[in-house]
Amino acid sequence: MSETALSLKGVSKTYTSASEKLTILRNISFSVETGRIVVITGESGSGKSTLLNLIGGLDTPTSGTIEAGNYQVGSLGEERLTEYRRNVLGLVFQFHYLLKEFTALENVMLPARIAGLPKGEAREKAEMLIAEVGLSDRKEHYPTALSGGERQRVAVARALINDPLLILADEPTGNLDEGNSRMVEDLLFSVVRKHGKTLLLVTHDKNLAARGDRRYTLHAGELLPV
Ligand SMILES: Nc1ncnc2c1ncn2[C@@H]1O[C@H](COP(=O)(O)OP(=O)(O)OP(=O)(O)O)[C@@H](O)[C@H]1O
Ligand SMILES: [Mg+2]
Repeated sequence: MSETALSLKGVSKTYTSASEKLTILRNISFSVETGRIVVITGESGSGKSTLLNLIGGLDTPTSGTIEAGNYQVGSLGEERLTEYRRNVLGLVFQFHYLLKEFTALENVMLPARIAGLPKGEAREKAEMLIAEVGLSDRKEHYPTALSGGERQRVAVARALINDPLLILADEPTGNLDEGNSRMVEDLLFSVVRKHGKTLLLVTHDKNLAARGDRRYTLHAGELLPV
């Protein structure tokens, strides 16, 4: 039997303001087996980012449970939450969030250094990942001296450095032109497959969605298989 990387049970999210209650996610249950690529699509505002934010521990569900690795995500204290993000997750967003005062290589090394890996080892791992995303000749460049596609490739390498159980990607190609989108998505898929990683990917891109092992769409707060 294959292992479960992520499991959601009865997850709901309601935003309450002074005037109204807005239910974004309704009673969502699903699980992802280790090594699978799962793609979630849905219209703008359907709650895709909200769902990823809950799984990423950036927000808490109104009800339900989320389990990833050995972590009950909704109920972690500050310290365990940091540990969860550092040890279990790799994140790729629409915007790269690279630190501009660090080179491409240093940006990839950073999560490993924060996790306590000695500099030499962090560098070695980062060099390998930078090579995998085809940027060895750009590794000393600062983010401002990289193209949009190259920055996202650095972000993909950075997401893998701590050997995460689960990679969360929210519209990783959403900010790129078609050629660069293709390049970044090919890399993301090939790197994820090569390392046997589990990927939960949110995208508007129908071509990209078609490449997942399993596909869902968010509609009216519900997660439906496609
Ligand atoms: N903090 C908040 N308070 C109130 N409503 C919120 C909050 N965050 C998100 N929402 C609402 O939740 C809904 C879902 O937002 P979300 O960002 O998850 O959508 P999305 O599917 O990622 O859309 P997009 O494709 O445009 O990125 C939206 O209607 C949004 O306005
Ligand atoms: Mg979104």
